[in-house]
This record gives sequence, C-alpha cells and structure tokens, in this order.
Amino acid sequence: MTLKTSLTKEEKQEKYTVLLTHIRALLDGETDEIAALATVVCELHNGMPGFHWTGFYRTTAPELLTVGPYQGGHGCLRIPFHRGICGESARTKSTLVIKDVNKHSDHIACSSSTVSELVVPVFNSKTEVVAVLDIDSDYEAHFDEIDQEQCEAICKLLSRFYD
Ligand code: SME
Repeated sequence: MTLKTSLTKEEKQEKYTVLLTHIRALLDGETDEIAALATVVCELHNGMPGFHWTGFYRTTAPELLTVGPYQGGHGCLRIPFHRGICGESARTKSTLVIKDVNKHSDHIACSSSTVSELVVPVFNSKTEVVAVLDIDSDYEAHFDEIDQEQCEAICKLLSRFYD
C-alpha cells in the first residue's frame, strides 16, 4: 500500500494519535535505548507520508552527535554541535522546522533531494540533549506545527531511557 502524500491537518493529527498509541505500547517495559530509538524510527518512517529520511543522532561525546538508528538513504556518521541543522538543534536545545534547507545558512546535505527538515531534541532529566530526532522530506515545507508538537511528544517518551 502506498501512503497518500498529502494529508489534511485532521488526517495528520489522527495518524499521529494512532502512532503515539503504538509507540507507547511497543516501548512498554522496554529498557534498551537503541531498541526504543529504532522502534520510533520504524513507526514514523513507515507510518507518515513524505518522511524520506528518519533517524536519530546521539550525543556520544561532548558537543558531538553520532548517527543512531535510521531509515532512508545513507546518513552522515558524525555531526559536531557547531554544524548543520542537527547541530543547531542540539546546541540551542530547540526544535527546528525548516521549510527549505537550501535557504538555511548551515545545512549538511546528506541527500541532494532533501528540501525540508524537522529536528527535535531528546533531553534527559538534567535537560541535557542526549539525541536529536532528524526527519527529512523531499517535499517543500512538509513539516508544520502538528509534526513539531507530536514529534516533541514522542521525544519526551524517550527521556526515561537516559536516566
Ligand atoms: N541535514 C542534517 C544532516 C543529517 S542528514 O540530513 C541525515 C543537518 O543539516 O544537520
């Protein structure tokens, strides 16, 4: 089955509601963070239309992100906090919704087909960034406030794996 590429706001909200229920159930009782990250990536990538690269970068050393579980084409392996949209999200501890990466001052192009990007930090209980969720789309302005809110809710579920 091919996913419909454009959703109304109601359809998108509904998809996320179902996804969040699945993710909560799948992570219930799980303690391994890589199993959790891989499960979230799988659910998002296969459940949402227009998610062409979906993955996590993990903080593996001070100011350094290393690629974690992902789906899509080849992703770059290491991103320092001072580089790219992922680094900016980790550095500023904020979600970034980029409508057109070609107009963004510092974007690392892992794929030339990527146009829009959403990056959401995952925090531990000390509000340190332990990972970022990175989603790329080949469609312009693919991500909106619903994606931001729902992906932030998903990332909050992951905090417990880092305490
Ligand atoms: N575009 C990201 C790099 C990661 S890849 O897109 C998978 C960035 O600018 O940080």
